[in-house]
Amino acid sequence: MWEYTDKVQQHFLEPKNVGEIENPSGTGDVGSLACGDALKLTLKIDENDIIVDAKFKTFGCASAIASSSVLTEIIKGMSVDEAAKVTNEDIAEALGGLPKEKMHCSVMGREALEAAIADYRGLVPPMAEGELVCE
Ligand code: FES
Ligand code: FES
Repeated sequence: MWEYTDKVQQHFLEPKNVGEIENPSGTGDVGSLACGDALKLTLKIDENDIIVDAKFKTFGCASAIASSSVLTEIIKGMSVDEAAKVTNEDIAEALGGLPKEKMHCSVMGREALEAAIADYRGLVPPMAEGELVCE
């Protein structure tokens, strides 16, 4: 049995920012080859490059839901440049830690963020190159 922190349980039971933004400024659609799960992150970014809204949808496990939920909270209010520096360790840390078998689920959140920012910047999302790296 994996040990989940209270924060993980909270975000799993009452995830924040579930859904999809209409006419998003950037969309990140990623999937994990290791577990077959998927995550879609949509961002609303204002004219000053500030992320004013973020929503997610996932077919993922409890850790993916909690990671996505806390990720939307972390990045809201950040500039795109700041958000681009958020790592999957930051996500896990904001949850008070994840079991190490579940760290890859936070990687999926990080990949979705990277893809959404690339989409916003008009770049080819990194997923186009292939696969999410799950350790
Ligand atoms: Fe599939 Fe966590 S997202 S195991
Ligand atoms: Fe679940 Fe990597 S195996 S996200």
